[in-house]
Amino acid sequence: MSYPIKVSPSILSADYGNIGAEARKAAEAGGSHLHVDIMDGHYCHNFAFGIHAVTALKQYVDIPIVSHLEIDNPDVFVEDFARAGSDMIVVQEDTCPHLPHTIETIKRLGVEAGIGINPDRGWERLEVNLDILKEIDLLIVLSVFPGFGGQPFSPNTIPRIQQAAALREHAGARFDIGVDGSVNIMTIPQIVRAGGNYLIAGSSVFSGDIAENVKTLKKLGEDTLSKTTV
Ligand code: DX5
Ligand code: ZN
Repeated sequence: MSYPIKVSPSILSADYGNIGAEARKAAEAGGSHLHVDIMDGHYCHNFAFGIHAVTALKQYVDIPIVSHLEIDNPDVFVEDFARAGSDMIVVQEDTCPHLPHTIETIKRLGVEAGIGINPDRGWERLEVNLDILKEIDLLIVLSVFPGFGGQPFSPNTIPRIQQAAALREHAGARFDIGVDGSVNIMTIPQIVRAGGNYLIAGSSVFSGDIAENVKTLKKLGEDTLSKTTV
């Protein structure tokens, strides 16, 4: 089973005075999903976007919108984010006391579901919930701690992508393996060789020529994948 390369522009790094136009550029250049980080100033030390931002951004792009809930108590808000127009909702596994319930709720709302896992977290909670891995569409291996764009790439990310791929195999699941944080021309070859196919990119898309950046990152991912023997 091969998983096509997807580049998901993370709007956190866009020019907020021009955010709709920048989202549109990234989408039209081949972005697969618009990635919208939601931060509550509590789970991570920053604030970003919210329910109405999702609805507003949706008017600018034809690609699916992913709400990445980097917030505490996401269970309280998943319905609001679904109603706002999210096509996928990603929760951080360490914020959900009952992860299967959260994933089932998201799916019941008619949107895709994803799980994010921080660099310092073990896999135990996923290993004991193999059934939910069959329900999710995306597993995001965070290579930074949530909060800011432009942070350095955590070196343990590469083995963690391999562990995520092994877990997917073990579960008989079919989700995309995403990497979020410091995805750029330096890190993409190692990410793709390790088994990551869903590339969430903030600074490397929104600094400079947005359309050109999306195309370059996607081509690099695809070229690497075509030379990778699995
Ligand atoms: C971090 C966010 C990322 C962020 C990545 O909290 O989840 O989506 O936008 O930014 P870059 O690509 O600049 O590391
Ligand atoms: Zn994110």
